[in-house]
Amino acid sequence: MEKKQINIRYRELNSIEELDKQDRELLQKAIEATAGAYAPYSKFHVGAAVRMSNGEIFAASNQENAAYPSGLCAERSTVFYAHSKYPDAAIVALAVAAKVNGALTPQPTYPCGACRQVLYESQIRGGQPIKIIIGSAGKIQIIESVNDLLPFAFDNLPVE
Ligand code: THU
Repeated sequence: MEKKQINIRYRELNSIEELDKQDRELLQKAIEATAGAYAPYSKFHVGAAVRMSNGEIFAASNQENAAYPSGLCAERSTVFYAHSKYPDAAIVALAVAAKVNGALTPQPTYPCGACRQVLYESQIRGGQPIKIIIGSAGKIQIIESVNDLLPFAFDNLPVE
């Protein structure tokens, strides 16, 4: 039996001011988008923003439903909308932030498993890495590719 190991890479910054201008703007859009969340059940208000290869920026939030699985995370709301508007453009960066009781969470809020799988396919579709910027009231974490967010992605369907 061979033992194997996967290392994932990420960078950590102490505050939003340490981000470069483009990434800071995107994270700011994600933070603003938390205001549009519909989260009466979890009270967890998530905002996401994507930058596309054509320069367009879209932001959206989580939308819940009394029939719980019918709701949608902020990340998928944003990614699906962006691809619907510009099916031929790539998503080049995604920022995420979440608020509870009006305040940014103390820890970074990472995309759930289902959102990671959607991001993985979006990255393949775009043909270039998606940079992921995760905000919080404290540290900011940056991952340069979905490969580092979802190392064992489902990838077995024959997409042309
Ligand atoms: N949620 C997101 O929108 N994105 C994440 O990254 C984590 C979770 C939403 C789903 C649900 O509306 C609420 O946050 C609590 O799980």
